[in-house]
Amino acid sequence: MKRRKFLRSTGQLGIGLAVVGCAPEISEQTDQTATSKPSGSIAICTWGFKDGNRIAGEALDAGESALDAAIKGVSHEEENIANNSVGKGGRPDREGNVTLDACVMDSNGNAGSVVYVQNITNVAALARKVMEETPHVILAGDGAEQFAYEQEFQKEELLTPESKEDYEEWLKESEYKPIINIENHDTIGMLTMDKNGDIAGACTTSGLAYKMKGRVGDSPIIGSGLYIDNEVGGAAGTGLGEEILKQVGSFLIVELMRNGMSPQKACEEAVMRTVRKAESVKDFQVCYIAMNKAGETGSYSIHQHFSRMEYRGGVNQRIESDYHIKAEES
Ligand code: GLY
Repeated sequence: MKRRKFLRSTGQLGIGLAVVGCAPEISEQTDQTATSKPSGSIAICTWGFKDGNRIAGEALDAGESALDAAIKGVSHEEENIANNSVGKGGRPDREGNVTLDACVMDSNGNAGSVVYVQNITNVAALARKVMEETPHVILAGDGAEQFAYEQEFQKEELLTPESKEDYEEWLKESEYKPIINIENHDTIGMLTMDKNGDIAGACTTSGLAYKMKGRVGDSPIIGSGLYIDNEVGGAAGTGLGEEILKQVGSFLIVELMRNGMSPQKACEEAVMRTVRKAESVKDFQVCYIAMNKAGETGSYSIHQHFSRMEYRGGVNQRIESDYHIKAEES
């Protein structure tokens, strides 16, 4: 199969099949005009991962650092087997292997990442260990797994009976089908600001469902799935990783904010870079969230149904995101 055709197909698949059937509750809210001052403890994350975001927010309220809170929040979702796009219970690749990707950045500009990791649930925490305990930024595959055991992470079966059953069903046709905009979550990217006003973040995923063996997306790539600059703010991406990688989307958003754009406008511009450059955006989704040093936030996507969770002032709410293709409204 030609590369371009394959990417288009996987986009269709990942957006649909990876995430169906896991709808978190939606609290009504229109998109926020980002004018508020930082309240000290703010956590935002992609999609409707309300429990993980609340856990991070409460950790911030309790005085934990931005990085500790982000890891705590996303770890909860990695351990939740109801999520089939993150951590344990994530959908496997075409050969039935669940492979996880994650990265973290702290407030001092340090970064850690793991790619193509099997048998380990808490890969964001593992990425932190890479950042703090090694001279490297990225560890991959067997090396990352071996390092995890050295750091006393437990070996776990990541393929749950439900994901296995879905995979076996998929195997019957082994075909990609275009299903779009019925998703309710995907990768979790989380941005946190602690009481000192310092910003950190984490991003973790099982990647595209039924991806090619060895495929890695945007989520563990510093600057694509996540970027933090504590002088400016942070951003995280979700959706079709191949498209986010091509724009180095999260880094782009932080640089746009550095040059004066609000988080909302920066997310919009990053999405529009993809829209302007892609042959067609009909069959894939790209979404971003961002937060600046003033505690202002934003999010934007190509298609509808993207949202972010936002915790501030002790309130955790889901905020529906604005999006590019309005014609999809029904
Ligand atoms: N955004 C997640 C992935 O493409 O792997």
